[in-house]
Amino acid sequence: MSSNLDNTIKKVLADDRSDENDVRAATAPHQRDFPYDREEEAQVTRREFCNFLGLTSAALFVGAAGFAGKAAIDARDTPQLSSARIEGAEALAPGSSLNFRYPTDKDSAILIRTLDGELHAFGQKCTHLSCPVYFERSHQRLECPCHDGAFDAKTGNVLYGPPPRPLDSIKLDVRSDGAVWAIGREAGSSEGLI
Ligand code: FES
Repeated sequence: MSSNLDNTIKKVLADDRSDENDVRAATAPHQRDFPYDREEEAQVTRREFCNFLGLTSAALFVGAAGFAGKAAIDARDTPQLSSARIEGAEALAPGSSLNFRYPTDKDSAILIRTLDGELHAFGQKCTHLSCPVYFERSHQRLECPCHDGAFDAKTGNVLYGPPPRPLDSIKLDVRSDGAVWAIGREAGSSEGLI
């Protein structure tokens, strides 16, 4: 690499049309005062670039892990929750889903009646980076559009993709009049991974 550079410099200096010799003569005193090693600088620059890449990757990894960890802690810290009726749940057809809010108006959740008629409900936040999951009817599973994650519609367990743990599950109570109530929420545990 440096011999190629030396050859090129020699050629330029040997060319009568080049003013490189004049430039070198004019700048020689400055170059003595402020020596400049092109090869050494290239190496430093490469080293700095590698350090930069390493630091950036580490920062991204720590940021994503922190984000997922905070979401898990937030979910576990949920205090005693009051019950809330899920409007329209009793009429939900098998193989379809219904969105509702629980435990607060800010928390979106999803209720699914699977093909066998069972009801299951989950917090809608993906456990990877909190994108909202949706019920994909043709595959009868919950999918996350952000990074191709998927969850089992009965258990909330991760089927594939980057999510580190199952969805938060919402406990249900079907009352004698057929009304469906949300009565609590439980953070998805990584022990439930399949
Ligand atoms: S946010 Fe759901 S897979 Fe990344």
